[in-house]
Amino acid sequence: MKYSVKDITLASAGKLRIEYALREMPVTRLIRKRFEAERPLDGITVGACLHVTTETANLVITLKAGGADVYLCASNPLSTQDDVAASLVTHYGIPVFAIKGEDDDTYYRHINAVLDAKPMLTMDDGADTVGLIHSKRRDLIPGIIGGTEETTTGVIRLRAMENDGVLAYPIIAVNDAMTKHMFDNYYGTGQSTLDGIIRATNILLAGKTFVVAGYGNCGKGLALRAKGMGANVIVTEVDPMRAVAAAMDGFAVMPMEKAAPMGDIFCTVTGDIHVIRKEHWAVMKDGAIVCNSGHFNVELDIPALEEIATAHRTVRPYNEEYTLPGGNNVYLLGDGRLINLASAEGHPASVMDMSFANQALCAEYMVKHHTTLSRKVYAVPDFIDAEVAKLKLAGMGIEIDTLTEEQVKYLASWQEGT
Ligand code: ADE
Repeated sequence: MKYSVKDITLASAGKLRIEYALREMPVTRLIRKRFEAERPLDGITVGACLHVTTETANLVITLKAGGADVYLCASNPLSTQDDVAASLVTHYGIPVFAIKGEDDDTYYRHINAVLDAKPMLTMDDGADTVGLIHSKRRDLIPGIIGGTEETTTGVIRLRAMENDGVLAYPIIAVNDAMTKHMFDNYYGTGQSTLDGIIRATNILLAGKTFVVAGYGNCGKGLALRAKGMGANVIVTEVDPMRAVAAAMDGFAVMPMEKAAPMGDIFCTVTGDIHVIRKEHWAVMKDGAIVCNSGHFNVELDIPALEEIATAHRTVRPYNEEYTLPGGNNVYLLGDGRLINLASAEGHPASVMDMSFANQALCAEYMVKHHTTLSRKVYAVPDFIDAEVAKLKLAGMGIEIDTLTEEQVKYLASWQEGT
């Protein structure tokens, strides 16, 4: 079996952590059990480009239990857990091509290695696989039945492809399932981003000014959690609706130009490019900590920082000190890559359980229904979203009410009033 991992001897440590994460993934466990019995993915080769974590391991093991031949590479050069990669190869017979800290050439070589397996179904986090297939590996298109996409940034790219009429096969936007973005983006990003910042800095958040750029689901979760740790939160936004929401949630809202000299900690979660630019770096306080938790490392203009900095050194893992012309030091975390996966372990298993349950069920749906789908980005079918919520509740041991007959009738009628 061909594979490319950092150190295969890390496998035992990885297996322990994969099994431990599964404890918090009851929905995935149930799906795996059904997949083992029904084998809905028999004969399907899956090319997965996801963050190689303990949670992803449990997803790909589940896909394999369902009969799929799974090949896995990383969806970010800095997010791989090398022990997990080693264990997937050693204990689960899944070819993995991912090394934490790989350079861009290796990153794309690894995606190409997965594509060499001629996947029939692509499973992306950020749409890099789809991008490569549509540019340099078009020969694979006739063999592909469909794909799934995990994240907001990827879905934005795919919708742009659909609008330009170039998307060559149907893709389900897993990110847009309610059981994905309402929990993963909100609770997951909120907690794991603070975890990443704390591991890279050991900073006390209480009393600090914490600037959150972007008030989508990720930004909302992050602002909430930073406030919960005692920080004074400033939100920057470009969308008036979201800015109103941030203000009414009790946060200070202002342009980055005003926030830049005020912040002790900055984190971008916008999905856009150069949210923190030269003019912002230049006015930051001494000691300012800056990171990104959006999918790509373009939200911070790092070349501009490198251009104006007079000195640079690594002070801790994932923490680089840059000296600005006036003598202030700013601290860039994780090379501007998503800090929750660069210096921490990504979202906790309990929340990835729902995201990856959607992935597994959407893969099954695509196999069953691809002949009726066209070259579009599709929403996750409602029944899958509802099923994931139901299974998660069961997994959490929570019971809820059901409508009485009278209530069903009332909700369906328009005659009743005061
Ligand atoms: N994205 C965010 N957190 C993740 C995790 N733990 N595993 C895979 N993808 C993620």
